Amino acid sequence: MSAIPTEELNEIRRNVDIVDVISSYIPLTPKGKNYFGKCPFHDDHSPSMSVSKERQIYTCFSCGATGNVFKFVMDYEHISFRESVNLVAAKAGLNYRVDVRNNAPKVNKELYEIYDLSAKIYQNNINTAVGKEAKQYLKSRDISDEAIKEFGIGLALKNKDVVTNLLRKKNYSDNDLIKSGIVIRNDNGMHDIYYNRIMFPIWNVSGQVVGFSGRVFHGETNYKYINTKETEIFKKGELLYNYHRAKEYARNTDTVIIMEGQLDVIRAFSVGIKNVIGTMGTAITKNHALLIKRLAKNVILCFDGDNAGAKATMSCIKELEKVEITPKVVRLKDNLDPDEYIKKYGKDSFVSLLKHPLTTMDFKLQYLKKGKDFSDAVDVSSYVKDVILELSQIDDEVLREVTLKKISADSNLDIDFLRKILDNNTAKKEKEISKIPIKRQVKKRETKYEKAEKALVYYMLKSTEVIRIYDKKMTYMPTERYRLLAREISYFYMKYGTINEADFMNFIASNESLLAALSEILVLPLKENYTVLEIEDYIQTILDYNMKMEIERLKKVMKEEIDPLKKAEYATQIMTLKMRGVNNND
Ligand code: GTP
Ligand code: MN
Repeated sequence: MSAIPTEELNEIRRNVDIVDVISSYIPLTPKGKNYFGKCPFHDDHSPSMSVSKERQIYTCFSCGATGNVFKFVMDYEHISFRESVNLVAAKAGLNYRVDVRNNAPKVNKELYEIYDLSAKIYQNNINTAVGKEAKQYLKSRDISDEAIKEFGIGLALKNKDVVTNLLRKKNYSDNDLIKSGIVIRNDNGMHDIYYNRIMFPIWNVSGQVVGFSGRVFHGETNYKYINTKETEIFKKGELLYNYHRAKEYARNTDTVIIMEGQLDVIRAFSVGIKNVIGTMGTAITKNHALLIKRLAKNVILCFDGDNAGAKATMSCIKELEKVEITPKVVRLKDNLDPDEYIKKYGKDSFVSLLKHPLTTMDFKLQYLKKGKDFSDAVDVSSYVKDVILELSQIDDEVLREVTLKKISADSNLDIDFLRKILDNNTAKKEKEISKIPIKRQVKKRETKYEKAEKALVYYMLKSTEVIRIYDKKMTYMPTERYRLLAREISYFYMKYGTINEADFMNFIASNESLLAALSEILVLPLKENYTVLEIEDYIQTILDYNMKMEIERLKKVMKEEIDPLKKAEYATQIMTLKMRGVNNND
């Protein structure tokens, strides 16, 4: 697969406006020449991402994320560079498609293949005669053939070596097989981890199979589900079941529903509620929360109706609030989970629950109230304290007041009394916060020549005039990453006769370290315009530094030299350099 020619990339890029594309993902507000929005690549609380219409690039001043339109779409959608080129071309209304097949990531290629093949083997099993019992089980649970197909549900057979043998025949190394977590080695040799289980593939956010969840379907066992162990490509804290499939539905409705189990998700999806994802019974992490934030503004938690589900809801809310999502909550009666509820009461009833979810505060009140006896002073006290602790963490004054009224009614305590406790609590909290020492960022002191190097590259990206000055006067930049960057810019100019940041990014797209150096440069708080004098000044600073280094080097060799004639020669050289330096500094 050959690289996409830079000219073609630039042509596509010129047909779209990065501001339009990014604002289709996140809200942007114009401010001066640029547009600003909350950066989707880190936990951003104030708009730190700036998008430049003129330069056709984005830069986050907080986390340093930067790039052109392709990079944004690639990172936002979690897709490959080629896929993002196609997507951007489509957005531009261009009839352009690059081949994305064969585009399996080179890293861990074997692992992806192993999961892919195993998924096929499991799916094949369920459709043969030996799969009858498993099919029967799925049927008894009302899982349709369509759902089996859509979700790639399969079967691991009773023999413990089917998959191992087939994969070995395909020449995968024992090492890779074990690494995948599908095969283990014990005293009896290598064999399948999964046997006699119904297999649910688990996909990463771009839809590649990266693991399995295997469910028992007859007999008793302590392990209802066995999930594949964590691998380099299967990080549980970063995966949500059905994410890749739910993505477009969630974005279209600006709503995403979160459930616990994969069977809940499959049920909802099958009855046409498609903007659903699953936590697979694990606690939500910050990465999960950020992934969820990318899908939709409205988040509805619909966990199991039992106590465990309520507890999980509570901790999920906490994690989501940290990234500034305020979810809504649906609680299901009679300890039912979404799968059971939909089966029992039907889709319409479930949809009407989704239409009237609880606010987080109402859910919290309900949760904290549970099991409390309001005729018991100890219970009243603990309830009031819990709620006030929650209230002390929110800024919304109206919500605080409304909630105070509610707990006043619940507890039969005077609202002014409750307000006083809340005020005390808030004051205490503020005091604690002010006591936390603010860590000053220790910045490495930057030397004068490093500053000059960066500024020089900065203006080279803006003006061909500066590139020409560089080509004429600059011989060697001491810092490798800026040196390489400057060389690439100079080369780009030679080849295309022009320069702009967005196109230059395509040019170095495959070079991670150059891109990193570039992002350092792009966020520099330098002014827009330069004077030739300033540019020459930067160059002089760098040349002076080079000379200083050369003098030091010569001094060192001179010291080690024994031949007096040669020693004198070095001394002359040093003198000449020094003289030149003096003249230059005039
Ligand atoms: P069914 O009982 O088949 O309806 O599954 P469920 O989705 O209702 O399961 P449950 O609510 O008990 O658990 C929610 C999710 O937690 C499951 O979908 C699994 O992903 C995960 N889970 C449940 N039990 C286990 C287990 O024993 N081991 C592991 N690793 N995960 C489990
Ligand atoms: Mn269930």
